[in-house]
Amino acid sequence: MLPNTAGPLAGRVALITGSESGIGRETARAFCRQGAAVVLNGRQPERLEATRQALAAEGYQVAACVADVTDYAACERLVAVAIARFGRLDILIANASISQRAYFADMQPDVFRQVLDSNVYGAVYPLKAALPHLLQAKGSVTFISSISALNGMPSGSAYCAGKAALANLAHTLRLELAGTGVHFGVVHIGFTQNDPDKRVLDAAGRPVPIAHRPPRWQKSQAQVAALILGHVRRRRRRTVISALGRLILVVHSLLPRLGDWVVLTSQRRMRNFYE
Ligand SMILES: NC(=O)c1ccc[n+]([C@@H]2O[C@H](COP(=O)([O-])OP(=O)(O)OC[C@H]3O[C@@H](n4cnc5c(N)ncnc54)[C@H](OP(=O)(O)O)[C@@H]3O)[C@@H](O)[C@H]2O)c1
Repeated sequence: MLPNTAGPLAGRVALITGSESGIGRETARAFCRQGAAVVLNGRQPERLEATRQALAAEGYQVAACVADVTDYAACERLVAVAIARFGRLDILIANASISQRAYFADMQPDVFRQVLDSNVYGAVYPLKAALPHLLQAKGSVTFISSISALNGMPSGSAYCAGKAALANLAHTLRLELAGTGVHFGVVHIGFTQNDPDKRVLDAAGRPVPIAHRPPRWQKSQAQVAALILGHVRRRRRRTVISALGRLILVVHSLLPRLGDWVVLTSQRRMRNFYE
């Protein structure tokens, strides 16, 4: 497919963290299709380069930068790549994340920190490095969160806490930077198909495969990418993906004890969403 240089995002530059795989990769593809130039990011040079080559072969304008987004100096390099390569930065999607399959009581403290850092500082540091350019462009910032941030999720303590922090961060920044023209939004994603090699951390910090979920419960990565794209283009404050997510939102607000009962009952039945 040829790049849509006349698309609605032609001339815009998007930086998508954690875009060497999964939802981030498909979001990059969706933004490219709309004419945006995209800076890809991840920590694994070979996988990142394979994603860059695949999108470049489809005719899209892409650059790639290996960077650990929990390292501020690396985030400065990441933003520098966007500016050096495309001259501006309009859109930041903080998507990089490490998830877990571990109960709090069993978790090594360092593992809790690693998961929390990837979800909180992994969003804060790229934004901090990119903010001057986003202010100049009156750009858009989207934090990728989860429906598990709307309620608790057993075996996901650090992940849920980190994802929940992003909603408050977006709200606070919206207030602090009101009048600057920068959009701050959060997308709460529900169950989505995973890359076959996706791994999450167990209590000792070992990478383990993600739970297998029935396909009918899941959206495809392309569907989720299209919803993220729509969220950014409409400059929405919050997008909750999936009927389950919206149900959690309502039940948690109005009937929190019922919400807990549903989570615990389904967890007992399935033993663990993450297994
Ligand atoms: N899939 C779902 O069902 C689901 C549900 C709710 C929310 N989400 C959210 O959607 C987003 C994408 O998830 P996904 O399913 O596509 O997972 P994924 O395939 O594991 O993608 C996450 C990406 O983030 C990268 N990453 C992690 N830590 C990083 C760091 N410190 N610096 C740079 N890159 C880092 C990973 O690369 P490495 O190889 O370097 O680790 C990976 O490329 C995440 O924010 C996730 O929490 C997903």
